[in-house]
Amino acid sequence: MNSTAASTNSKPSRSTDAAAELRALKLEKLRRLEAAAEAQRYDWQRHARADQLAPSGAWRVWLILAGRGWGKTRSGAETVRGWAVSGAAKRIALVARTAADVRDVIVEGESGILAISPASERPVWEPSRRRLTWPNGAIATTYSADVPDQLRGPQHDAAWADELAAWQYPDAWTQLLLGLRLGSDPRVVVTTTPRPTPIIRDLVAASTTHITRGRTADNAANLAPQFLDAIVRRYEGTRLGRQELDGEILDDNPGALWKRSGIDDARVSKAPDLRRIVVGVDPAVTSNAKSDETGIVVAGLGYDGRFYVLGDYSGRYTPDQWASRVALAYREHRADKVVAESNQGGDLVAQNIRTVDRNLPVATVHAKRGKALRAEPVSSLYEQGRVSHVGSLPTLEDQMTAWDPAGDGESPDRVDALVYALSELAGSAQPASYAASASAARGALRPSW
Ligand SMILES: Nc1ncnc2c1ncn2[C@@H]1O[C@H](COP(=O)(O)OP(=O)(O)OP(=O)(O)O)[C@@H](O)[C@H]1O
Ligand SMILES: [Mg+2]
Repeated sequence: MNSTAASTNSKPSRSTDAAAELRALKLEKLRRLEAAAEAQRYDWQRHARADQLAPSGAWRVWLILAGRGWGKTRSGAETVRGWAVSGAAKRIALVARTAADVRDVIVEGESGILAISPASERPVWEPSRRRLTWPNGAIATTYSADVPDQLRGPQHDAAWADELAAWQYPDAWTQLLLGLRLGSDPRVVVTTTPRPTPIIRDLVAASTTHITRGRTADNAANLAPQFLDAIVRRYEGTRLGRQELDGEILDDNPGALWKRSGIDDARVSKAPDLRRIVVGVDPAVTSNAKSDETGIVVAGLGYDGRFYVLGDYSGRYTPDQWASRVALAYREHRADKVVAESNQGGDLVAQNIRTVDRNLPVATVHAKRGKALRAEPVSSLYEQGRVSHVGSLPTLEDQMTAWDPAGDGESPDRVDALVYALSELAGSAQPASYAASASAARGALRPSW
């Protein structure tokens, strides 16, 4: 028998006992330290700024209107976590603008519910059932605001609505409120960059709403410097900056060509049968420091003689990406034509679109000096109540109602794309008033238009 076998078989000595005990104690202490560190890391009372904590009092809606990156989503997620873990709510609705936003922001995002929950409290996420279940049995179900019917029927005792001012259909909010009928004190936390939509205005006026306002700068310490730089550079000093950075609800800009109320009053949730559908494109120009977005807006002309703005596919894209987005918009809406500005790109613009689908019918327009003039007859169509937006197109509408052609210089990209699409359609509709104002604009612009 060798010595190793002998020692294995022999009884542990007192000193080995003591060493094992010490190890166990150390491990236990380490576990406790780790648990304490984790508890601190996830302690929202400790990290939150005072105005990020759910207010006391008898509010029905806690409306957080704040600039980009203020910590709106984090505050919403922490409020839901607090409700679920404390047992204050057992059936919670989580609603964001699209299904992707619900998943990528509210549930799985960096400030979303899974990321802010310590392991011991973390709910189980079942994407196929759109459901989070906490260890204590509380359940949250996710909904996409672009499918309002999802919210028809289910009942809840609490809800979180993220970016409410950007939801496409007001009906989603109505259905959410109708379903809030469980428990004795149903509550909603709304976290949104403010826009003066009818829903936000109503909420601000309601006595049961608790309002919290905030600026991007309030959370500067927790924002990635690249994000802060990019967003500040984009909006600082602009009218929209007051909304996007300072969280202000903007009134109509007196110099703008469009009014919020005009767009809101004519809005519809569904387009009728359409005679023509056009995709307007204002391609990004990399040399332009103001903006490098590509405007891509789809509009149609109804058999009823009215115009319908159907979709906004705009964004910051490489040439390959925007060409694909244009083709997608064309296909999704079964459009009959693409109208693209070719001021800087010349034939390259049409060529770029055709690299994705060489059969796309593309017409190019050259309108460098005439953007404001070109936009005027289109804004007249709106004043006459002849243009309806199908659902809401928040960023496009922000640009339409903020841009003052006299004061702000160049028109925003989404507005340009809208104007190209509607001008093309108006050309085929030829209403007397449009034809008159458009020909006045053409006269002023010759020869480039
Ligand atoms: N009090 C806080 N302490 C530490 N980090 C915070 C705090 N508040 C917010 N954050 C962090 O700041 C970042 C931005 O927060 P969040 O995404 O909630 O902002 P937001 O207002 O929803 O932004 P967006 O306008 O882009 O939707 C996130 O990483 C979030 O976790
Ligand atoms: Mg957010």
